[in-house]
Amino acid sequence: MNGLVNWVEIQKRVMRMPVMAEKDPGEFWGKSAFMYDKMSKLETDYTSNQLDTIILDAADSVLDVGCGPGRLAVPIAKRVARVTAIDASEEMLRYCKKNAQEQGLTNITTKVLDWKKAVVGKDIEKHDIVIASRSVGLSDLVKLNSAANKYVFVLSFAQSPSLKEVQMSFFEGISEEKLPDVRMNRMFGYNILFNILYDLGIDPNLRVVKDGFTRDYVSRQEAYDDLRQLGEVKKEQEPIFRKNIDKYLIEQPDGGVKFLRETKTYIMWWEPHELNIDLL
Ligand SMILES: C[S@@+](CC[C@H](N)C(=O)[O-])C[C@H]1O[C@@H](n2cnc3c(N)ncnc32)[C@H](O)[C@@H]1O
Repeated sequence: MNGLVNWVEIQKRVMRMPVMAEKDPGEFWGKSAFMYDKMSKLETDYTSNQLDTIILDAADSVLDVGCGPGRLAVPIAKRVARVTAIDASEEMLRYCKKNAQEQGLTNITTKVLDWKKAVVGKDIEKHDIVIASRSVGLSDLVKLNSAANKYVFVLSFAQSPSLKEVQMSFFEGISEEKLPDVRMNRMFGYNILFNILYDLGIDPNLRVVKDGFTRDYVSRQEAYDDLRQLGEVKKEQEPIFRKNIDKYLIEQPDGGVKFLRETKTYIMWWEPHELNIDLL
């Protein structure tokens, strides 16, 4: 069925990545691996809200498309038989493997694979559950559908701020980095994926859960020293950096401080079946 609106075309424009990310995603994303790993760890407490929504069975095989440092792949491996964690970046997978090892997990297989080039059934076999979170997988829902036996789950930020926006806010007035305005506009949110799925003949389930970044520190100084690692701050820029961080530090009764920034994540899921692909 052709929809009233060409949501696929809208998605292509909204999700447009820098040329470098399209050309060599492994190299592009590898540069952010340390930052993503560290930011993901600030998110650990809130990530459990997403894990509680993902339907998992102890016997399941799970494919995590664009797994990054394993923010979801690692805790999911504790609940299922096996996880295949694929990513275009070796560096991201290095963090994923390290995080799995630290948790004593042996049921995660990592694989360097460009999802855009991957052929399901040849480069990667079907899995019971397919997950694509904040990743390239969201740009081809038909491919995700074709890789799953039981469920497909897609996730991303339901509203501003995203992980990248939170990280960038630490370095406001210091770094020149900017995100395209559409990324922060509700008009271009999960409604796009919902409508693409709808037009494909799918009735997606949707849940929006609380998400956030948090960590307790013994002092402001410890918070500055920890969060400064997420970017670059010259000595003369330190007062700007501290002012940025101070906005999100809450004094605690024990004398410490809590860093806290809340946001929301959506989880959309469906049972895979043959699709109406007229519109693509
Ligand atoms: C924003 S991170 C998301 C990580 C993780 N899924 C999460 O939810 O925290 C996006 C990940 O997708 C990976 N990626 C980007 N393009 C890719 C491609 N073409 N094939 C496979 N992985 C890709 C990146 O290397 C990066 O690890």
